[in-house]
Amino acid sequence: MTFHTCLKCNQIYITPDDGDSNLMCCGQNVEPVMALNSSDEDSDHKFLIRKTGNFVTITVGLNHPMVDVHHIKFICLETTRGFQYQALPSHQEAKASFILALGEDIVNVYSYCSIHGLWGLK
Ligand SMILES: [Fe+2]
Repeated sequence: MTFHTCLKCNQIYITPDDGDSNLMCCGQNVEPVMALNSSDEDSDHKFLIRKTGNFVTITVGLNHPMVDVHHIKFICLETTRGFQYQALPSHQEAKASFILALGEDIVNVYSYCSIHGLWGLK
C-alpha cells in the first residue's frame, strides 16, 4: 500500500497498490510519501501494539500531543487481507482499536502526524 499527499491542500490518499498511479489533486500529481520508521525514534511516534486474540489496540507515542495544530490524524493497520483505517479527531487519545478476521495478521502499522508526517512500524 502507498500513501500520497497533495502538497497544496495536504489531503492524504491511500492506494492499495505499489503507488504507481496517476493520482491528481488541486490540478497536479500527488507524490508517494515514504513512512519514517517509528521504531527508530525514542517515544513520540513509536507504536505500542497490544494484541489479545483478534483484538488489536494501537497507541502512538507515550504522550503524543492531540491539539489542533499537532495531532495524529489517523492510524492505519495493514494486514494480510488489506487494511483498516481510523481517523482520530484532535483532543482525543492517539489510540485506535481494530478487530482482525480469523487468520488475518498484522503486516504493518502507519500513523500520520499533522506536523511530523507519516510513520510506519517498518
Ligand atoms: Fe508529532
